[in-house]
Amino acid sequence: MVDVARPGERIPIASDHAGYALKERLRAALAAMGYQAEDIGTHGPASTDYPDYAHPLAQQVADGTVARGVLLCGTGLGMSYVANRYPGVRAAVAWSPEVAALARQHNDANVLVLPARFVSDEDALAILHAWLDTPFEGGRHERRVHKIERDDDPATAPEGT
Ligand code: RB5
Repeated sequence: MVDVARPGERIPIASDHAGYALKERLRAALAAMGYQAEDIGTHGPASTDYPDYAHPLAQQVADGTVARGVLLCGTGLGMSYVANRYPGVRAAVAWSPEVAALARQHNDANVLVLPARFVSDEDALAILHAWLDTPFEGGRHERRVHKIERDDDPATAPEGT
């Protein structure tokens, strides 16, 4: 479970070219809030491939090096496809603060994915704040989140495991 408001917490952030400009703004916003924003790239507007940035960020979340991270691409979809292949990573594409808050409350989302071509800078900041500051509700949602990872749960494990 991800706690909220950890002073000095290191939060990796990454984008492809479609998310680059917004990534720069969110990186500055994270730093201004007191987080250590670790810029995984991309480092310019030249065309690039989103998996090259999603893999290293998701790996850090999956292995517990960091608690959470932020990804951006044009739609948010490619980045989320990659990140959600990693055990323990719950990457949520959020296009409004309400969706971001629900992704935390109900799904304990530990990676925020922004669809950079479909949100304004102002909306993106509000989405980032909602995701950073909203705690997981637990309770019935704890059981459901636990069932996402099937291999350690006899009730949901694939037959024969
Ligand atoms: C890049 O043009 C675009 O395909 C990418 O940013 C992303 O939207 C993919 O899912």
